[in-house]
Amino acid sequence: MKLIEKPELGRYMTFELSKEKPVHGWFWYKEGYAPEIVDYAIQDCKPAAILDPFCGVGTTLLTAKEKAIESVGVDASPLAVFVSRTKSDDYDAADLEGALAFINKTTKTKPESASSGRSVVSLDWEFELFSPRAAFPKRNYNEILAIREAIEQEEGRPRDLLLLALLSILPQASIIMKDGGVLKIDRNKRALPAKEIFRRKVKRMVRELEGRPQGHSPSVFLGDARSLDIESESVDAVITSPPYLNNIDYSKIYGLELSLLHMSAAEAEEVRMRAVRSFIGRRMDVSDMPPEVGEIGTRIPIIGTYFKDMELAMAEMARVLKDGGSAYIVVSNSVIHETHVMVDEILGQIGERIGFRDVEILVGAERVADVRPQKVRTRESVVVLRK
Ligand SMILES: C[S@@+](CC[C@H](N)C(=O)[O-])C[C@H]1O[C@@H](n2cnc3c(N)ncnc32)[C@H](O)[C@@H]1O
Repeated sequence: MKLIEKPELGRYMTFELSKEKPVHGWFWYKEGYAPEIVDYAIQDCKPAAILDPFCGVGTTLLTAKEKAIESVGVDASPLAVFVSRTKSDDYDAADLEGALAFINKTTKTKPESASSGRSVVSLDWEFELFSPRAAFPKRNYNEILAIREAIEQEEGRPRDLLLLALLSILPQASIIMKDGGVLKIDRNKRALPAKEIFRRKVKRMVRELEGRPQGHSPSVFLGDARSLDIESESVDAVITSPPYLNNIDYSKIYGLELSLLHMSAAEAEEVRMRAVRSFIGRRMDVSDMPPEVGEIGTRIPIIGTYFKDMELAMAEMARVLKDGGSAYIVVSNSVIHETHVMVDEILGQIGERIGFRDVEILVGAERVADVRPQKVRTRESVVVLRK
């Protein structure tokens, strides 16, 4: 296993730079990376078909599409699948006109609900953690539900664009803060007017889609990276970032968006059951933990189960890759219960044991974490594995 410094990749390991990029920036996903990581991997191995088994909001898939490369994406969250699909679909002029006609029709009239404070919509919005009413000023809450109900009447691709626009504005229209691993209500936060930011968002999306090259839309589906419904030896590259070992439960962090997408509280529990065990709250069973994890895996069971899940996901990557194919796994080393976990090295060692060769760890960035009594440097890196 080789450790290689690649500081030029460091700034692309977060979603920050994607925010302003056309289409990539439509839905803020803190856990995402920037398309330049995918560019790097594509240049390195020149794939004809790419898989992202933890596709998130579709950075890999959209970058592949932009380069006319075929790709497949899988995610355990219906929200991620919906966002990835909608961002990487093809739209014609009629779809874009449909989306604009919708905002002209619905956002110019003043809904009775907004002025009276009474809800005139029949939809019931359930969220498992707290009532969504608590997350928004009353006017925004009513406007969001009125728009959501109007979107129900739409069909096909314009409907998806509109729904994505609405989901993407929830953080700004709410008084919620996504703080570490939890959602907090912050009464001092200024929520922006929902109808207006929705309108602006749809316009931005239509503008960014105009004249975009069509074709090479990925196939994106709901699934589990540990057991993929994908043919063996069918892709040339896996370019991905799994959930980090950080105790964060994304089905909660994005729970409001997920519940507005499906209008159901039960969905979050299903996502949680499918997800890789990167957070506490799932049943722990460390009995068949990978040997590379060592003592910390039994002392802190979540570490053992995380790497067990990652071993299963890596075995699937090995199965679906063609001979000569490469996997690029973007990870961050973690500090958990004051224990520094070298996620990249452990994944590299597991990779070698299950048959990958020429394992490299490309170190992009280092952060200083406070692990009392001392400070440690944690890395963000790309683990490269060759089949
Ligand atoms: C770090 S994010 C990926 C972000 C992505 N690289 C991007 O730029 O948008 C990890 C994703 O893995 C998904 N996930 C968690 N467990 C999974 C599983 N067992 N199978 C597939 N996806 C899973 C989460 O829903 C999340 O979207």
